[in-house]
Amino acid sequence: MSSGIEAARPATEGGQQYHLHLSQGDLPPTVLLPGDPGRVPTLARAWDRAEDVAYHREYRSMRGSYHDVPVSACSTGIGGPSTEIALNELAEVGCRNFIRLGTTGGLQEWMRAGDIVISTAAIRWEGASASYAPDVYPACASYELVLALIEACERLKLTYHLGVSASTASFYAGQSRPAFGGYRGIEPKRMEQLTAMGVTSFEMEAATIFTLCSLFGLRAGAACVVIADRFRNEFKPGPWADDVLARVGAETAVVLAGQDEQKRRAGKEYFFPSLQSGAVDCG
Ligand code: URA
Repeated sequence: MSSGIEAARPATEGGQQYHLHLSQGDLPPTVLLPGDPGRVPTLARAWDRAEDVAYHREYRSMRGSYHDVPVSACSTGIGGPSTEIALNELAEVGCRNFIRLGTTGGLQEWMRAGDIVISTAAIRWEGASASYAPDVYPACASYELVLALIEACERLKLTYHLGVSASTASFYAGQSRPAFGGYRGIEPKRMEQLTAMGVTSFEMEAATIFTLCSLFGLRAGAACVVIADRFRNEFKPGPWADDVLARVGAETAVVLAGQDEQKRRAGKEYFFPSLQSGAVDCG
């Protein structure tokens, strides 16, 4: 018996996205992307209004608003494969601005636990993006989201750094950590090489988000808080990281909405600093 649902375009019986259980318009276009489903309500605690939307497998979603700006959040799960599913299905239901918020392992001496890393681009070692574009295709953040994340960190008086990060498909061997039994894997020198190249940090999802958004014509950014100081070999996770990410996410949504409003008023496609100061004649 046919379900009437195409295998090439899987959906639930009710017509929702198959994994996220979301329908068109369920979430506002700006979506915060933590990996951990438990972090979705934590991010939403910073908003003025929040409600649950769906929760299936590793994908939990909520929507709400902060300072009258509609905002949503959806977990991606850990790593490229689950993030690729989230990104596609969120785009299908109308999400357009993707802001990854997560934790990271800092690679540079000048970084400390608690600092924020805003990725301008990400090395594509996460696996999933390889099915979308050849590996010479860069995984770059949208400059408008980089600007919005900078503005948010400045408003919140946070210490932040900008640079190229590395998204890996493996937390242990792929980030030069000893695996079970001390097994070193095939990348024991990866960390050293990245540090020498000035790469800021390890995480596992940004490259998938950047690559797919760039190919799809959507905007993407990523800000991660350092919980692993790989230079000093110190690990400092904790609820404080969730609180920092929640404030960065809410503020960035507001800044981005402000930038977009200035573009709309000026009839411009791209945001640039003099739009804000009014120094440019857009008439
Ligand atoms: N996330 C990672 O992928 N690596 C770390 O070291 C910390 C968080």
